[in-house]
Amino acid sequence: MDIKYIEKNRIFVIETPDTSYCIAAFDEEGFPCHMYYGDKISTSDLTYVLKMLEPGYTASSNMRDRSSFLDRFPFEYSTNNVGDYRKSSIEITDKNGHSGVNLCYESHKIFKGKKGLQGLPATFGNESDSMTLEITLADKVIGLKAVLSYSIFEGLDAIARSVRLINSSDEPIRIDSVMSMTMDMDNDGYKLLTLPGSWGRERAMDFREIGFGDTSVESFRGESSHQFQPFMALVQNGDSQEQGKVYGFSFVYSGNFEAGVCRSQFDSLRPYMGICRKNFSWKLLGGEEFQAPEVIMTYSSEGLGKMTRTFHDLYRNHLIRSPYKDRERPILINNWEATYFDFDSDKLIAIAKEAKKCGIEMLVMDDGWFGERNDDNSSLGDWYVNENKLKGGLKKLVDEVNSIGLKFGIWMEPEMISPVSKLYEEHPDWAIQIPGREPCRSRNQFVLDLTRKEVFDYVYGRIKDVLSSANIEYLKWDMNRQLCDLGSPGLESDRQGELSHRYVLAVYALMEKLVSDFPNLLLENCSGGGARFDAGMLYYSPQIWCSDDTDAIERLKIQEGTSLIFPLSTMGAHVSDCPNHMVGRTTPFKTRGDVALAGTFGYELDITRISEDDRAEIPHQVETYHKYNELVRSGDYYRIASYQRNREYDAYAVISRDKTRALITYVQVIAGPNAKKRIIKVNGLDDQKAYRIDGTDKVILGSTIRNVGLQIQNAGGDFRSELIYLVSVEK
Ligand code: DGJ
Repeated sequence: MDIKYIEKNRIFVIETPDTSYCIAAFDEEGFPCHMYYGDKISTSDLTYVLKMLEPGYTASSNMRDRSSFLDRFPFEYSTNNVGDYRKSSIEITDKNGHSGVNLCYESHKIFKGKKGLQGLPATFGNESDSMTLEITLADKVIGLKAVLSYSIFEGLDAIARSVRLINSSDEPIRIDSVMSMTMDMDNDGYKLLTLPGSWGRERAMDFREIGFGDTSVESFRGESSHQFQPFMALVQNGDSQEQGKVYGFSFVYSGNFEAGVCRSQFDSLRPYMGICRKNFSWKLLGGEEFQAPEVIMTYSSEGLGKMTRTFHDLYRNHLIRSPYKDRERPILINNWEATYFDFDSDKLIAIAKEAKKCGIEMLVMDDGWFGERNDDNSSLGDWYVNENKLKGGLKKLVDEVNSIGLKFGIWMEPEMISPVSKLYEEHPDWAIQIPGREPCRSRNQFVLDLTRKEVFDYVYGRIKDVLSSANIEYLKWDMNRQLCDLGSPGLESDRQGELSHRYVLAVYALMEKLVSDFPNLLLENCSGGGARFDAGMLYYSPQIWCSDDTDAIERLKIQEGTSLIFPLSTMGAHVSDCPNHMVGRTTPFKTRGDVALAGTFGYELDITRISEDDRAEIPHQVETYHKYNELVRSGDYYRIASYQRNREYDAYAVISRDKTRALITYVQVIAGPNAKKRIIKVNGLDDQKAYRIDGTDKVILGSTIRNVGLQIQNAGGDFRSELIYLVSVEK
């Protein structure tokens, strides 16, 4: 890990273990030039990468052809409306209504460690394990500066990149868009990989041709969304786990975003990522700063597999702060699919007693315990216990659950208000809305305007009171609708465009307060399933509910897309009842358990009503979870096969860092007739080590498992799963 400055040519070289990233402050003007990002290169002969002899690369000395220079120059951070016609890194309107921007090199700093980002989640590092380069660019005409920040981390091929804008003039500047990352690069036959989806089917893998012009994804729903994940990758070799160049980009932000690639007339690519232009503007007064969120970039020359493992390591070690991140999480049972709104304390106690017998460790009371909430039509905001359901109150219930020997967790949806609620009767204006326009209902609820102090204080006060009223050790923070009708009386008319971003900042501020006041609380984020499963949220909560679709087979796809970026330790995954409530499919209880083992693990069913056989299997699943969870949480993830693409079976492995243990999960989704024996080849083991298949006498060499593969014994039948545990032994 190193960051060098080659003064002679004003070139910056950022070096991670296997990659180099080079930027130059080009010619006398100091245009920020993206020179190179890829496999590690020697830094001695870099100037030719500047391509100074190519036509058009003579900006200052050839004013006649300045536009052909600007329109093809490989920018690290581009100009706007001064001669580059590609998608801009930044768009502004100055006091005269003009939009020209030309940010050029002014100064730089290289230092050990990494700074936090004001009000935003971000990766962290200390002076011994991280290093940062800050390059300040300036546009002297409008008095705008941009500080481009690049941080690297010991042992990781990742760069955390962000942008801070400073208005150094005396006049306001309106920011119309600010990308956190752009860079211009050659097109080496890349495709764009994104993770589109919907409610109940989040994060499917989608590969697209990159056409001329713009190819992109975005969310302007106020959250990262079910529909698109704030992630993209440029991939050279499709879904290959081992081969081909891959550039991965993940946004540490939970609100509106855009991510895409602009392909130019000269076949160069400009990948970009930042807050979505739509529904955004920001009035920056003289002397003020605007911090744009962070993008994590990683380059792999070994296919998607290495990209995934880099993201996992970075997020596990430099993003998630919760004390739970390295701990085994309590196995929980959640009553949502067991009872929905129809429960009382007797029912919950009955579930808790049965759960305890099976080795489950925590009861989570989901939606419906407050106000008059017996369906989803009312009471959000009225965070007071419904004593008709919880006789004697919350503390009595929690104490009783604790005395059974279970921890207690609770569900809240703090950001929302039901039009049928006491809170709405008192404060109808607290909902986000445009005056004179009836706001659009979604799940029959509105979104609270958390940017207003009185609303923020009320919401935090209720969360705090509820959590302090009993021994509550876990909170499921849900968010079941997206934002629209954007309007806030707290903002002046020329600041209404700030609402979406201010809303996200307020959510972050709420969560920050929560985790500092309740440092031992286990916080699980959720948004109608996985609509806010993003790196921003992981800064506050070590786990996020992956999807409302708990069917084991659907989960294979959802968990594949999620684990492409996010560590398994963050994926909320539960065993639920069958026929599955969402797809009506019946799968073996074992398969449901094996698939949920790849996440935080728990149950989402009425344990008092499932079959004896299923219930009898729970203690075994609990034991399996305890046996493997440390490996699942901390190991390296290797995808072996994808049901999403082969339509027959799924397989993945988690291998311990020292390569002495590996857990392979195989799921036969659809069995076929007259098929050859299923063989799975596993990468990532130590070629020289001998591995015994747990429960058998069979010992196989790592190189044999990689090249010849393991034979699956039980490939017959639909929806069958198998766990194969390998332990290294003396040869
Ligand atoms: C959506 C969540 O994803 C579910 O698990 C459940 O908590 C419901 N909301 C409750 O309304």
